[in-house]
Amino acid sequence: MFPAKTYIDRRENLRQEIPSGLVLFFGNEDVPFNYPANTYSFRQDSSFLYFFGLDQPTLAAVMDIDNHTDYLFGNDVDIDDIIWMGKQPTMKERSLQVGVHHSLSLKDLIEMIGKAKKEGRKIHYLPPYRGETILWMEDLLGIHHSEIKKNASESLIKAVIKLRMSKDELEIREISRMVDVACMMHIAGMKMAKPGIIEREIAGVVEGIALSNAGPVSFPVILSINGQTLHNHYHGNVLTEERMLVIDAGCESDLHYASDITRTVPVGGKFSQRQKEIYEIVWNANMAAIQAVKPGVAFRDIHLLAAKVITQGLKQAGFIMGDVDEAVNLGVHTLFFPHGLGHPLGLDVHDLEGMGENFVGYDDETKRSKEFGLAFLRFGRRLQKNFVMTIEPGIYFIPELIDIWKAENKFAGFLNYGKIEQYKDFGGIRIEDDILVTESGFRVLGKPIPKTVEEIEKVMSE
Ligand code: GLY
Ligand code: MN
Repeated sequence: MFPAKTYIDRRENLRQEIPSGLVLFFGNEDVPFNYPANTYSFRQDSSFLYFFGLDQPTLAAVMDIDNHTDYLFGNDVDIDDIIWMGKQPTMKERSLQVGVHHSLSLKDLIEMIGKAKKEGRKIHYLPPYRGETILWMEDLLGIHHSEIKKNASESLIKAVIKLRMSKDELEIREISRMVDVACMMHIAGMKMAKPGIIEREIAGVVEGIALSNAGPVSFPVILSINGQTLHNHYHGNVLTEERMLVIDAGCESDLHYASDITRTVPVGGKFSQRQKEIYEIVWNANMAAIQAVKPGVAFRDIHLLAAKVITQGLKQAGFIMGDVDEAVNLGVHTLFFPHGLGHPLGLDVHDLEGMGENFVGYDDETKRSKEFGLAFLRFGRRLQKNFVMTIEPGIYFIPELIDIWKAENKFAGFLNYGKIEQYKDFGGIRIEDDILVTESGFRVLGKPIPKTVEEIEKVMSE
């Protein structure tokens, strides 16, 4: 946990953003996966962690803005629990660790909310994303479960996004440490990428390194020789010489800050000529995009810069024809690069996504596109100092998409389908790093992870 002052300051900052009423936060509950007592690993809600720091299930909190008082709600364990769990700090002790002097039971929460409702006070809450929380809220607030999400407080959502998007020194250190652990995960994965090995053998080692050096993985490991499927969680393929292995994996710290890194390597450790050619286009796009990061630049423009580098490279390699700017404008590149350049990173690996992507990534100036490809860009607005973003361009040969576009003769003047057809067995390449927006530019967080053709071949030969 951070020092109590961190949480006190964060709540004070939030108070400055919310004019009046109560702000109600829900922690997460333990969730069973096959019978009640066999639960998934507990993961606390990220905004609850941010403002209240406590990492136990079934807690709630209220900030009474008008009375300038914060409350934590939770029940103390009894002797039956202690027999199974060992001695636990009391709610009062836990609350004081995060600078909250009023700790009450869950029954008291029902009373406080009931009274506030009777008095017609505004109750702000964030959009929930778990069924258990929605049902809890339905009981407490008397709002039908189908109406809960739409009644979330827009002013609270915007305030929480504003605060959580800007990372402080402690948070940046946490994320950087997790990139260092991801570095170990990825190097171990690269070294294991030999013909004959099954993907799950590598995935197990990668996840084990996360667990032994930090917390759990920050999202289910993506590890596949079928990298053309963007989020491929199937780990049953045997690695073969001519394929490339995509590993997209990161981990969480004790305090739940995430890393998110992708590397793509040739099975066996030596890039073929055609692998190298495509890899270097993605590498160029990754480097150009990182170097373009600075406060004031719209992330959508950096996405389009990466798209341009990819289009230029694919033109040189004979896949794309015609004018590069026109091709990018039309979205020709989306056959190969159909997703967005990146997303914010923090307590959530797609930071704050539960608040609504458009609130996080778009604003009055930058509106979300509806076009294929650009519509998948989770974040488009201008960057600010202390944002942490992923930069993750890729090139993929998705046979099903190629077939559809070819049948439609889509962008026929721009796409060399004859050549593209020959790459339907290629797979995909993505390269992802975690980037801090600094005062004047960018900082790549964490230890450098092998990324150039030479670095990857070297580490895989050791
Ligand atoms: N690393 C997975 C993702 O960004 O969606
Ligand atoms: Mn990512």
